[in-house]
Amino acid sequence: MAADRSTPYEVILKKRDGAKLDPAEIRSFVRGYATGEIPDYLAAAFLMAVYFRGLDAFETAALTQALVDSGSRLDLSGLPGVVVDKHSTGGVGDKTSLVLVPLVSAAGVPVAKLSGRGLGHTGGTLDKLASIPGFRSDLSVEEFTAQVDSIGAAISGQTADLVPADKKLYALRDVTATVDSIPLIAASVMSKKIAAGAGAVVLDVKAGAGAFARDPESAFRLAEAMVDIGSEVGLVAEAVVTDMEQPLGMTVGNALEVEEALLTLLGEGPRDLLEIVLVLGSAMVLLGGVGNSEAEARALLVELLRNGAAAEKFRRLISAQGGPTLDGTDGLRKLPGMLPRAPLTAVVEASSDGYVAELNALKVGLAASALGAGRAAVNESVDLGAGIRLLKKRGDWVDRGERLAVAHASAEDRLEAGRGRLSEAFVLRKEPPCPRPLIHGKVGRG
Ligand code: URA
Repeated sequence: MAADRSTPYEVILKKRDGAKLDPAEIRSFVRGYATGEIPDYLAAAFLMAVYFRGLDAFETAALTQALVDSGSRLDLSGLPGVVVDKHSTGGVGDKTSLVLVPLVSAAGVPVAKLSGRGLGHTGGTLDKLASIPGFRSDLSVEEFTAQVDSIGAAISGQTADLVPADKKLYALRDVTATVDSIPLIAASVMSKKIAAGAGAVVLDVKAGAGAFARDPESAFRLAEAMVDIGSEVGLVAEAVVTDMEQPLGMTVGNALEVEEALLTLLGEGPRDLLEIVLVLGSAMVLLGGVGNSEAEARALLVELLRNGAAAEKFRRLISAQGGPTLDGTDGLRKLPGMLPRAPLTAVVEASSDGYVAELNALKVGLAASALGAGRAAVNESVDLGAGIRLLKKRGDWVDRGERLAVAHASAEDRLEAGRGRLSEAFVLRKEPPCPRPLIHGKVGRG
């Protein structure tokens, strides 16, 4: 029997027994599931077989291509230069896209970014942007492309016809305990990046308590799987494994994170966020064909933050996408005052003297969700003004009674629930914690 005639049962059986599937089998299975010919119970069995048996690089690339082929693809080929995209595997306090998109664009590299909403303990760029009054993240394909052409940057939500098979499969994975499989995650992420049409992508693969990959080793395996898919299907991809043991920056929650991103663009951001922005941004700039070395790219980005060009690009992006028209840098500084604010606050204080030995990103993310900043189910709304301001991070010394963090919420019950969880995220000890690198390493060309 020809390979592409294998029945769904035969494909499942083959994978269950650890054999390699050929591309035609993967293609027909994905197509069958996308069109509804293959029911959920067969797809669930297939996913579980893949979960236990894995997919090699070849099979993963075939799955990725099959997902891409289930829908339409953005055509950005008419835009000048190499259009660059970035993707983060998701974290807590991760507002890097808000800084990177205008910054890299200010360096002369067009950035076309399709983003998502947050789920569970991780935030989503679209929720953060929704806190800017009037901001539209539902650009049509034509609007999105025209904006990348005119101002060199756009951030929008993914249209429904991009990779529909991934949407369906992801929903099934979510309820069948098959989300955290490296080939399935890699194919899911890369299919969306390929369909989004950029010429190159930088992947920020998070490692630590708040990430999919709890340890750097599995983050590197995921990074390698994604970069390999890029090589197989012709999308230039580089990955940076970055730390997500504690939240990134000093804020978690939508409006609070927009404010911190803005401060970073004005050269006043926290050190860890700035460093990650410079590392990812240098990779994006080089892939976009600007600069000859990482040092040169980094120096350019530092200058664009210093001279106001990156902030100016953010101002133009906000206004192009329906947000307030702000007058220069002074106008931008008024943006935080226009963002929603949750009216109630509660302080978390140190219960003893000591070093902050742990600041668990997952616990902080769950605390932010409890405060109203995140959603547990796809259809829930979020409180854009709710969240957390961290005042201390891992390695800081604190005296008993000193303020560790401030929780923001719109209702007393949410404030209490979030404050309790937030205080559990901090562990104080007399000994300083072992330092953890912020950048664990890179995979790909760099
Ligand atoms: N994000 C995705 O887009 N897909 C996954 O499978 C996991 C995270």
